Amino acid sequence: MLIISDKRYETMLYNRCGRSGLKLPAISLGLWHNFGNVDDFETAKSIVYNAFNAGITHFDLANNYGPPPGSAEENFGKIMAQGLKKFRDEVIISTKAGYKMWEGPHGEWGSRKYLLSSLDQSLKRLKLNYVDIFYSHRFDPETPLEETMGALSSVVRQGKALYAGISNYPADVTREAAAILKEMGTPCLIHQPRYSILDRQPEKELLNVLADEGIGCIAYSPLAQGLLTDRYLHGIPKDSRAAKPHGFLKKDQVNPEMISKIQQLNQIAMHRKQTLAQMAIAWLLKDHRINSVIIGASSVKQLEVNLLSLQNLNFSPDELIAIDQVLNS
Ligand SMILES: NC(=O)c1ccc[n+]([C@@H]2O[C@H](COP(=O)([O-])OP(=O)(O)OC[C@H]3O[C@@H](n4cnc5c(N)ncnc54)[C@H](OP(=O)(O)O)[C@@H]3O)[C@@H](O)[C@H]2O)c1
Repeated sequence: MLIISDKRYETMLYNRCGRSGLKLPAISLGLWHNFGNVDDFETAKSIVYNAFNAGITHFDLANNYGPPPGSAEENFGKIMAQGLKKFRDEVIISTKAGYKMWEGPHGEWGSRKYLLSSLDQSLKRLKLNYVDIFYSHRFDPETPLEETMGALSSVVRQGKALYAGISNYPADVTREAAAILKEMGTPCLIHQPRYSILDRQPEKELLNVLADEGIGCIAYSPLAQGLLTDRYLHGIPKDSRAAKPHGFLKKDQVNPEMISKIQQLNQIAMHRKQTLAQMAIAWLLKDHRINSVIIGASSVKQLEVNLLSLQNLNFSPDELIAIDQVLNS
């Protein structure tokens, strides 16, 4: 039987999300992979319980997570209903809309029609009255930004979401979106970009915009979908994301050039007495503009390993240079 520990707040770090009252655990759990109907429900449930027992209070979803799309929300709803519901006020649940969910012209992107209908569907699947954070999952260049931000502001006013967020928005659009939301009286709580040792795009401009605007930052795919772990040091294991037909990490991304980089990064991690996964998480959290990282995990063991990254978040200048050199090699 899965039980909730009364020691669950003893080891996790909590960071204020931008200029808001919300505190996020330094490590959040994402349900993009491993929580769909193609996955084992008991394992999924056990990962969620172990996460919560380790102080991970934030669970990140989206309408389309599965497969099939929607099934991760359904399964998380079941896990909540089967025992976690009484902790609802301790838990931060986010969901998003932006990618394709249903047929026709309003089954994706950023119209008011799509966002409002999608959140209603998500709440039904999750069996919840509200989510904590509702995101526009991607910028829609064809819908007026005022309409998309207006939809986010509406769901907050309706009480269906407590906070509004954006994900994958370019830096300049983020600034515009923040101004629109501020005027509507619904500040932008958070931005969710992809960011890891291997993917430095947010460093170019986005992180400065977020700091200026007081918007929190939560990095997704901190382990580059498993590349920044010991998973692929010696090939592609059968049970790994890259080997699964529905996995978003493709086999050709695990190429000899990438394996060489991973092996070099692994050496640096070993010198730090960390695993590569632990170093990759710590590397993001060393920057105080990053309030949380959303990890994925296919087992409780992976989750446990990753949680230990919090024990060493400091990097020497030499280590940082060595990491950058591997990236640029
Ligand atoms: N906003 C967006 O557009 C967006 C996009 C993508 C993701 N996200 C969010 O970010 C979350 C995390 O994304 P992600 O799953 O790509 O994150 P990730 O942490 O970069 O990768 C997770 C995968 O790495 C492997 N792994 C994790 N810990 C490991 C360890 N200690 N040792 C070996 N392998 C390990 C597992 O893959 P195996 O299956 O191979 O074991 C696991 O499923 C998602 O669930 C979602 O909530 C958001």
